[in-house]
Formats: sequence, C-alpha cells, structure tokens
Amino acid sequence: MRNIRTARAHRFCAFALACTLLWPILARAQESNPEIPPAQAVLAHNGMVVAQEARAARIGADILQKGGNAVDAAVAVGFAMAVTYPRAGNIGGGGFMLIHLANGDDSSIDYRETAPARINAKSFLDAQGNADPQKSRDSALAIGVPGTVAGLALAEERYGSGHFTLAELMAPAIAMARDGITFGDDRAEALPNERLRLARWPATRKIFFKSDGSPLSPGDRFVQSDLADTLEVIAREGPVGFYEGTIADEIAAAVQAAGGVMTAEDLHDYRAIERKPVRGTYRGYDIVSMPPPSSGGVELIEMLNILEGYELATADPAEELHLLVEAMKRAYADRTLFLGDPDKVQNPVERLTSKDYAALWRATINLARATPAGAIRAGGQAQDEGRNTTHFSVVDHFGNAVANTYTLNFSYGVGLVAEGTGVLLNNELDDFAAKPESPNAYGLLGAEANEPAPGKRPLSSMTPTIVLKDGKPFLITGSPGGSRIITTVLQIVVDVIDRGMDIASAVSAPRIHNQWMPDQVYAEPGLAPELIDALQARGDTVVPTRPFTSANSIMITPKGIIGAADPRTRGGLAAGQ
Ligand code: GLY
Repeated sequence: MRNIRTARAHRFCAFALACTLLWPILARAQESNPEIPPAQAVLAHNGMVVAQEARAARIGADILQKGGNAVDAAVAVGFAMAVTYPRAGNIGGGGFMLIHLANGDDSSIDYRETAPARINAKSFLDAQGNADPQKSRDSALAIGVPGTVAGLALAEERYGSGHFTLAELMAPAIAMARDGITFGDDRAEALPNERLRLARWPATRKIFFKSDGSPLSPGDRFVQSDLADTLEVIAREGPVGFYEGTIADEIAAAVQAAGGVMTAEDLHDYRAIERKPVRGTYRGYDIVSMPPPSSGGVELIEMLNILEGYELATADPAEELHLLVEAMKRAYADRTLFLGDPDKVQNPVERLTSKDYAALWRATINLARATPAGAIRAGGQAQDEGRNTTHFSVVDHFGNAVANTYTLNFSYGVGLVAEGTGVLLNNELDDFAAKPESPNAYGLLGAEANEPAPGKRPLSSMTPTIVLKDGKPFLITGSPGGSRIITTVLQIVVDVIDRGMDIASAVSAPRIHNQWMPDQVYAEPGLAPELIDALQARGDTVVPTRPFTSANSIMITPKGIIGAADPRTRGGLAAGQ
C-alpha cells in the first residue's frame, strides 16, 4: 500500500503497453502526456522556498538568508514572480496567503479580486439571458479589481519581521523588470498559443512580442520598463501608489477603453482582508487552509473528514482510490450549492467541515459501486486549465510557514496590459457562476451564493494549506490547476499521512480528479492500469488527462526541511538555506 504510487510510476511502461493493446483512448493520451519525472528532494536546515520560477525562489531564499522571516520571503517572491512568471505571477490579479506563525497563531490574507461596482448578476449574460463565456473570459468585463499589491503589503505589514521595508523586498523584482531577464524556454513555449489573446492589445504586444510580431523566444531579453516604474511607485508609496493616483487612473482607463467597467473608485475601494483560516483535523494532524471566498479549505477538510472514516493505510489500493473519488464527488457538489463570498452570502463552513456531516456523506458511499454524479446533484462540462495559477511554499528557521497561491485566472489573464503601467490584468470574474446551470471555464457550476454582484469576490479553488503535527508546521502545500487544485492538495495530504510517502514522491505521484460534474474521473499518466480497471468496474468513467497541476511543497522531517518542486511544470526550484 505504502509504495503504491511509486509502483504506479514504475509500472508506467507496462501500463503504456497494456493501454496500447487494450485501451486505445488512454494509449493516445499517453503519447501526448509523457511520464511525470520524479521530483528532486532538496534538504536544508535553515529555511526553504519552493516556487515555480527559479529566480524568484532564490530571491526568497536570499531574504531568509539575510534574516528575513517566511512572510518577508513570500512577499519578495510574490513581487518577483510578477516579473519573472507573467503567466500567473502578478500584480494585476489576486490570491490567498496562508500564514502559520512560530507562536502557534494562524492567519490568512484574502487578496482575491473584487467585481467592479458596475458588475451585476446579468453582466455575463447575452441578450437571450444565457451565459456568455466570451464576456466572462475574453473581454475586459471579466477583469476583477486586482488584489495582489494590497495583499502582499498587508501580509508584510502585519507579519513581516520588520527588518525589511517593502522597497527592500521589491528591489530584486524592480531590477529584473528594469534590466530585463533572459526569456526562459517554458515561458517562450507558451506564448505562441497565447498570441491571439495577447497580441490584439498594443500595450501587451509591445512587451511580449518583437517588432516583427513574433513572440519572444528562449534567450531573448525580456524587459518590462513600465512595470519597473509601477513597482517603484509601490515601493516608494506603498499600496496607495497603486490603488490611487496615476496608476489607478491608467488601469481604469485601459479597462474602460477595452470595454470594461472598472473605475478608479473601484481600485480606491479595494481592500485585502485578513481572515481566520478554516481548520480541521485528520488522523491527529491539524489541517489549516484557506476559507471562503476560496472553496479550497472547506472542501479539503470535508473530503479528509469523509476519508478519515476508512482505514486507507491498509485498504486495498483500488478501494482506496474509489473512496477518494467518492469523497471528491460529494465535496464538489456541496461547493456548487453552498459557497460564495463570505462578505455577501452565508457559507455553512462549520457544518460542511464537521465530522458529523462527513459521517452523513459516508453513509451514502457504496464500497462496491460508484455513485453516479446525477444521484448527488445536477451538472455541466469540464475544461482544461493550463498552468495559469502558481503556488509557492516557504518556511523559515524561526518556525513560521507560508503557503501562497495567486493567479490571473487564465494564463496571462485576459491578456490586456494596462497602457503605461506594465500591469497584466486578470479575467478572474469567470470564477463567478454567470448562471447556475452554466459551468465556468473549469466546468464548475455554482448557485446564487456565487452569482456576480458589485464588490463581490468570485469563489476560488485555491487551496494554500499548512498541515501541523503537534502544533508545528509539518507540510506546506498548494497548487495551480483550477478545479483540480483541491483534489491535488487532498492527494498530497493522503499520500504523506496515509501512505507515509516522502514529499518528493507525493509531489510526483500520478493524480486523479473528480469534480462531481461532469461525472468523470480524470487520470494522469502513470496510474496503474489495474486501478483504472477497478474504478471502471465500479461504474466510474475514467478519462486520461494531462499532468498540469504543480504542487510545490515542503515537508519538515527529523532530518531537516525537505522541499520538492513539482516536475510537471519546468522551471520550478526548491531553494534551501
Ligand atoms: N481562478 C481559479 C481559482 O481561483 O480557482
């Protein structure tokens, strides 16, 4: 049982052969989804930053080396990735930072984007009253008021060590934007696919494309002078320099010129919010995660509570996988109906995360048969998410830990850089339920709790999570992946706690995903064929999927701090101190 995921990976070749012979659909998927290489474990004793972009990870580790705490390092990484990893790192989007302090306190900073004041329940509908994905995904109407600058600044103000100014933490980001960096392979690889969305906006074209219209290539110098100027203003004046005055005016003007409704007042009114994390327990560990407006923490705890009723460590692997899928279906059904911006709607967090509620769900699980999603609730379609979000994990030698996930929603957001600012803007408002029966880009359904409204935050799946053992950080994790974020974090936790996996193995183990609707189990390459057969035999439909989540994680062991960058995405680094 313990080595089942490793065994799954080792059996990949046999799996591929079997699939070629027996299962043409899956065999085809494997041709385009190469095996996930093993993650590298990096051991350190004084601190660790694991991020999707190596320069940013080193910048964070350098802050730790200079005596900074995990929050200082996370803030430096957050600003750095806005420069070095523009497809998801950002100051034009938003996210969530989960913080565990050495004194035992936990907190979270919600810097999710908000809907401008002129957005309402009909904003993303067409003339017939149907959901119009073009409006919610591919137009300036989709742009939420960015939260990252306020969120990183609030985290630093409340929980930074006090030894660094914001300007000092931002200095490496400013220098990289001003002087330029070498454009990396992984970024260059993504750009041609994004050409249509990005090159239509002159301010974006100027940054990511050459004068002949071709996208930047590997090795090209990537200079972002306007972004450097914007970061300098923030460094000098603090968030007020972003949310008021010239930069706010320029962002609002650019959004309106592109057909959106954001105003300078919307930016002025934006606030990052400190929230009490959602907490649960799992087999004696404390689970600390992100509360609404992310659904991540609630769903994670709900699934873990359901699974706690089974002896997963000794279960038959096929049965264990079946139980994971059944727990996923039920938690995602609840997400659809119950969750939304807690400042606008009631979220039944206590009930959904209670052990009693999990017991009710457990009573509906049949060990021998998959429950059809339709028997749980009604549904929609799923779509892939690329590497559109990004997660980094940080620990310092004081005992503080940070899990941070932030995003522009799609890769490069809506693709619009606000002229004169260098700020690439999000299309986060597609995370609202434009209409209850219409899925968002990740196939997620929603209800009234998540309908668009002025000033409201769209429901997210981001799940920055810290697992505590005896009150001390044990596991720091999270991932990009849209709706798949939560099930990725679930599997990391189960792999480590139930299967006793080391963090590098847990990070690279093949994953499955089910989100209730559509009624399908997505399986990454490398999953043992007998397990897939077993899921199908119970009545699940298994669909191969690309491996595109990226759980950059840290585990604290008696040997030291071990970091593992997820091998599914190139360019990540575990930078130890
Ligand atoms: N934009 C993806 C999420 O927040 O879940």
